[in-house]
Amino acid sequence: MAQAVYLQTYGCQMNERDSEEILGMLGAQGYVVVDREDEADVILLNTCSVRAHAEERAFGKMGLMQKLKRERPSLVLGILGCMAKAQREDIFRRLPQVDLVAGPAEIYDLPDLLAGVAERRQQQQLGAGARVLAIDRKVRPLDRRPATDYRAGQVAAFVTIMEGCDKKCAYCIVPTTRGQEVSRPVDEILDEVQQLARAGYRQVTLLGQNVNSYGKRFPDGSGWVGPARRRQLLHLSAHPGEANARSGPPDGPRLADFPALLRAIDGKTSIDRVRFTTSHPFDAHEELFQAMAECRTVCEFLHLPVQSGSDHLLRAMRRGYTAEHYLGQITRLRELVPDVALSTDIIVGFPGETEADFEATCDLMERVRYDSAFVFKYSPRPGTEAAGWADDVPQPVKEHRNQAILALQERISREKLEATVGDDVEVLVEERNRRGQLTGKSRGNTTVVFDGADTLIGEMVGVRVARVTGTTMIGELAAGAAR
Ligand code: 5AD
Ligand code: SF4
Repeated sequence: MAQAVYLQTYGCQMNERDSEEILGMLGAQGYVVVDREDEADVILLNTCSVRAHAEERAFGKMGLMQKLKRERPSLVLGILGCMAKAQREDIFRRLPQVDLVAGPAEIYDLPDLLAGVAERRQQQQLGAGARVLAIDRKVRPLDRRPATDYRAGQVAAFVTIMEGCDKKCAYCIVPTTRGQEVSRPVDEILDEVQQLARAGYRQVTLLGQNVNSYGKRFPDGSGWVGPARRRQLLHLSAHPGEANARSGPPDGPRLADFPALLRAIDGKTSIDRVRFTTSHPFDAHEELFQAMAECRTVCEFLHLPVQSGSDHLLRAMRRGYTAEHYLGQITRLRELVPDVALSTDIIVGFPGETEADFEATCDLMERVRYDSAFVFKYSPRPGTEAAGWADDVPQPVKEHRNQAILALQERISREKLEATVGDDVEVLVEERNRRGQLTGKSRGNTTVVFDGADTLIGEMVGVRVARVTGTTMIGELAAGAAR
């Protein structure tokens, strides 16, 4: 009988896409996907390690699943993703019933690994889990990517364009958990986007830990190394904006950078909307802003995490830019893409953060006036550089700064949102919400809610903003709507 698999995802959009790939692969192997743990033969958690809290949630959930396994010993339990790589065999110590621990670089090995679990369990009468550990790959072998395709949505799809991260931000565990950067070849991405467009998808979100360093290393070893080399190879400095994957530089037809990829998707596929995440200010250049301005399909939205507004902290975090440089980038972006919506990530309570550092962050936020922001209390991650430093901002101070930033951002978001009342926005309609209204996103990534027929799902429509609540626009279908 077919094995039933239940998969729960924690963490970022990269993880969500990995989970789709995992379900696609397992589906092709004959597994049936179920959405209830008690119906499953295999329970997998695709986990996140970015903060201690994310790990504790996954540990808690797996603890509950162990109880299920006591009632049903044939149940297979697996921990996948970043926490698998970060906590390694320690997971078996805390969760003795777990059968499989597999890191982010090992997702394409899963069918084999699950077969290995079944074998181990047949061979021995196990009182505990099978304890199969797979965490040693340094790079995800993108050339082993299976041909299967599984997507959670029907209108908007994720497309992974690169995996891993070569940066060394002092607080961040991702380079450890996700390994070295590797980019998917341009042609492969174009094929995937075009297939999605043909299948009726209207939007793709290009995913990577730092999409701006796309193209640095391809699976065959080609790519550019370092920004100077990249500019030289792509002949960027003389003619910004002209670099493209279509003509390609003479000495490397497979060389491309992120702006070139955006231009290629815009020019060569029939997808209607393109988004991307995440960007790093160190690698986001003029060419990116040019490409955003010139590519019709690329939405006017940039998530550009600043983390802090204090140069002293940015240096300690090893971010590679100053607040002034960052503000300069925002100014230039706004010159090229005047109505661009912006979001950011902020860490409060990083080691050594003084009241003055914190105020510098608030000041930067007032100057940028983001549309939205994600705020995180610093959480030391074992193995990172900052974990060796005293976590010296007291918890109540972190909490207070967290609340203050949230309140500041809430005010700015509200002011910006209220100013849109009366405007017409282009909405890609995604689904019906629980209240029976249609919902979708504006090009600037704001949720828009309005009344309309089911036939509009998957369509691009004009909506007039009537009022706003929280972070949502509430509107009416504009006259002559469907565009
Ligand atoms: N503590 C708190 N926040 C963190 N982030 C990454 N690592 C940590 C950490 N150790 C935040 C950063 C990043 C976002 C995804 O998570 O702001 O941009
Ligand atoms: Fe979490 Fe970062 Fe891993 Fe995404 S890449 S799952 S945010 S630790």
